[in-house]
Amino acid sequence: MAESAIKSEKSVSQLRCIGCGRTALPDRFRCEHCRDLLEIIYPGWKESGPGGLDSASLKQLWRDRRSSLDPSDQSGVWRFREILPDISQQQVITIREGNTPVYELPHCAKSAGVRHLYAKHQGMNPTGSFKDTGMTVAASFARQAGYRWVACASTGNTSASMAAYAARGELHSLVLMPDGKISWSKLSQSLDYGAITCQLKTDFDGCVRVLNEVVERMPVYLLNSVNPYRVEGQKTAAFELLEQLGWEPADHIIVPGGNLANSSAIGKALREMKQLGFISRLPKVSVIQAEGANPLVRTIRETGGEKLVPVHADTMATAIRIGNPASWKKALRVIRETEGTVEQVSEIEIALAKAEIGAEGIGCEPASAVTLAGLKKLVKQGFVRPNESIVLVLTGHLMKDADFTLKFHRGDLFTGTPYEQESHALKPQQRAPLVLEPSVEAVIQLLRSAEK
Ligand code: F0G
Repeated sequence: MAESAIKSEKSVSQLRCIGCGRTALPDRFRCEHCRDLLEIIYPGWKESGPGGLDSASLKQLWRDRRSSLDPSDQSGVWRFREILPDISQQQVITIREGNTPVYELPHCAKSAGVRHLYAKHQGMNPTGSFKDTGMTVAASFARQAGYRWVACASTGNTSASMAAYAARGELHSLVLMPDGKISWSKLSQSLDYGAITCQLKTDFDGCVRVLNEVVERMPVYLLNSVNPYRVEGQKTAAFELLEQLGWEPADHIIVPGGNLANSSAIGKALREMKQLGFISRLPKVSVIQAEGANPLVRTIRETGGEKLVPVHADTMATAIRIGNPASWKKALRVIRETEGTVEQVSEIEIALAKAEIGAEGIGCEPASAVTLAGLKKLVKQGFVRPNESIVLVLTGHLMKDADFTLKFHRGDLFTGTPYEQESHALKPQQRAPLVLEPSVEAVIQLLRSAEK
């Protein structure tokens, strides 16, 4: 009893505006004074640490929970609940998210020109993307706050995740997705999990505009990444990564950039880990965007980060086909604080990098592959040195976009696009399915020629 009283007092969270710095704001998504985004802070930590514990005790507690049978302890998010907003255990909706692996990628390391390369594969979450880590926290909060409806605008992964958590938590969910240029697997997920799914005749940015008005007028809880509870959940991926690295920070963490919440969350986690004494230095966080969806790259290069440069986004990496990212200021702060950078990569570079990650027996969706493509550029520029430790954050599973993969291997991904000529260079990576007569001889002949 006494222990739980201490815990909840230390984990009381507040909302603070990232623009004007006002604190203790009401539960909204933007500051009522300056309209900037909100973030969650924990004033009690200053005095006695999260849950009243120091970093050594927390490290031990989090490790011990791995062998517990309690659903919250088995979650790779709620295992870290001392650094999350206080949500009653009865309200927690978990599908045992998090606990994702870190893989070594030796062949990708070679192709990027570095000695060792690691990938934190967030695509190994229950719905196949990193979104689950944030969704478990924000959906649980929605349930605790008494909402019956949740909603999001999405390029496909947020909606898949939200629909799953809503179903598990007995909430209704509404999805707004662009009509076209999305992946069928992601659309099929939200249908199967029971969401009301609408395809609007616009892009992601258009869906966000519509939804923002809907939630103003209806008692529906917004689960887009402007929701600060989602960012808190996504933070745990960085805590878990550092735990997996024995609390020895990597030199570089490389993240894809779309709406820019994931880079913001990872940066917030690193900042908190340093403040709390878990780590003594910050890895450099770099954000990679597709050339056709590069608002952050342009914002930094053209305005020095002063003003967002929205773009009309287009890329085959549909997850990050976003031109007006909500969390750009948060991401910019992370890049500056950690001395990271931004880079953009072409459609051909993305396709090549995705095939290389696949050929390691790991695989990822196109948006995740921008990290490897970006790393290659950062090595060439000398920003990343060959002997430094590097972690790519792979955000989505290979099966999220089977269409892209099949077209790539059949050689028609770029047919009729301006990249058709250039795409011939991808031939060595392509392995189209072979159609043969059902004959033993034909298969043996094929095996022999493959060995040569
Ligand atoms: N990778 C994948 C696989 C994604 O689905 C997304 C975003 C990102 C990277 C970019 O992350 O937005 O935090 O910078 N997907 C969104 C969605 C926006 O609706 O699923 P971000």
